[in-house]
Amino acid sequence: MLSGTGSLQKQTGDTKLARIVFDAETIARRVAELGAEITAAYPEGDLLVLGLLKGSFIFLSDLVRRIDRPLQVDFLVAASYGEGTVSSGNVRLLYDPETELAGKHILLVEDIIDTGKTLNRLVTLLRARNPRSLEICALLHKHIAVHLELEAAFVGFDAPRAFLVGYGLDHSENFRHLPYIASLT
Ligand code: IMP
Ligand code: MG
Repeated sequence: MLSGTGSLQKQTGDTKLARIVFDAETIARRVAELGAEITAAYPEGDLLVLGLLKGSFIFLSDLVRRIDRPLQVDFLVAASYGEGTVSSGNVRLLYDPETELAGKHILLVEDIIDTGKTLNRLVTLLRARNPRSLEICALLHKHIAVHLELEAAFVGFDAPRAFLVGYGLDHSENFRHLPYIASLT
């Protein structure tokens, strides 16, 4: 066991955690509920769970293990933020799923809906590929988006307006590994 890892988790450079907003147990309970909701919601047919990287990687891996039906997993990589905490609205696709989307139920999994700009661009792009259905599952929703092309059908938690990190969410690529969700000072 390395010494000093506790303080590393709470501070990276000048950035400090303010408080834990959702602890690991609360997240696990809600993710299990979401898995059950998704299992119940989907009719027959191929289900492709499409994770938006990198933010969704921990959420997606926990979520799919709580979905009790056949499914496939793939990922999208879209870059929308720079190093800061403000959405630029510019979305670039850096990785496009290899899996065929046409005729499948697509469940797009996102870590957090903030301005909604990332999702609005992706929804337009994915609809053009003729999926059988397209829905969004977001772990966190800030409910500040002015316009959403498609409202999330499945939401883990309503999020405070603070900048959140942990359980996949980053600040300049730090804090993704935390097992809980915390706000920054
Ligand atoms: P949107 O396009 O403004 O909705 O931004 C969505 C993306 O911005 C998310 O997928 C996150 O990667 C990032 N983001 C937005 N709010 C936060 C936050 O509070 N903490 C960490 N990342 C965030
Ligand atoms: Mg990010």
